[in-house]
Amino acid sequence: MVPLLEITNLFVSYKIYEGKLKVLDGVNFSVGNGEKVGLVGEAGCGKTTTMKTILGLLPQSGRVDGGEIFFNGKDLLKATPREIQNLRGKGISMIFQDPTAALDPVFTVGDQLMAVIRYGSREKMNTKEVKEKALDALREVKMPDPKRILSNYPIQLSGGMRQRVCIAMALATEPELLIADEPTTSLDVTIQDQILKLLHALVEKRGTSVIFITHSLGVVREMADKVNVMYAGSIIESGKTREIFSNPLHPYTIDLMKAIPRLSGGGLEERVPGRIPDYLNPPIGCRFQPRCLRAKFKCSVEKPELVEIKPDHFLACFFSEGSD
Ligand SMILES: Nc1ncnc2c1ncn2[C@@H]1O[C@H](COP(=O)(O)OP(=O)(O)O)[C@@H](O)[C@H]1O
Ligand SMILES: [Mg+2]
Repeated sequence: MVPLLEITNLFVSYKIYEGKLKVLDGVNFSVGNGEKVGLVGEAGCGKTTTMKTILGLLPQSGRVDGGEIFFNGKDLLKATPREIQNLRGKGISMIFQDPTAALDPVFTVGDQLMAVIRYGSREKMNTKEVKEKALDALREVKMPDPKRILSNYPIQLSGGMRQRVCIAMALATEPELLIADEPTTSLDVTIQDQILKLLHALVEKRGTSVIFITHSLGVVREMADKVNVMYAGSIIESGKTREIFSNPLHPYTIDLMKAIPRLSGGGLEERVPGRIPDYLNPPIGCRFQPRCLRAKFKCSVEKPELVEIKPDHFLACFFSEGSD
């Protein structure tokens, strides 16, 4: 079956004063119809860059150096700005990390939600119908007193309520694919879980396909059917969530697993030792090699491809766990 979204060999760089930051280094992953796919990796590994490339939202300095992004059989990298515009909302919606930045402070929640519904919906509606739909959308995200919220400005809401509004906006147009980029990272810890559960229940109910972007494997375990582990611009391991958690093979995935905060822990997340390479002069070969305890000479001269090592389990490593 043809996947809903398929990214092949995606290369993206940013031009800066000092030169070229080679961030995405051949990203490969796909999302099937109704599938919930996690994209996980530490800060700076290129998750947001990947999402922005899908949506045609790269800044001026960003450049696609190669690859393909097929959505419903159409190459988004070859689409016109108008085609991309038409795709947003109806085809693909997004939720960003910071709900404050995603909402316009000078318009009420109602203005913004109703605009999205009016322009994003498949059918034509009059104002009364649009308002009814906006109220429904707020009720769906369990917003207390939705009538009052419609006339509120974003600043009058808490961070968690703002993110609920963003979720309502993203889902109101019934997109085929939702991209949620660390939707709870900027929120208070106590409400992160509520928002995740809400999001999970909504996409489950509608059968929406989702790319769930996070730096936390713990979150992925609860949200996703499939996991893609990203390191410094490429997917280094992917597969069904259960398989990846019970049988992680890439040394980086194994390190990330160890970094999942334990329930009894002091609260602070442990980190994988070392840091993401310099994208101006990234290592030749495997980009994880400078941090890898299993690395051998080959790793510093040749980049391992992502290959299916058993059904539905993909790995990009020459000397993984159990290979010797
Ligand atoms: N507009 C930009 N100009 C230059 N570098 C950028 C820009 N946006 C992101 N980067 C760099 O690209 C790398 C990946 O960033 P990003 O995609 O935001 O990672 P993530 O979302 O995984 O944290 C980082 O090193 C970041 O500094
Ligand atoms: Mg990001």
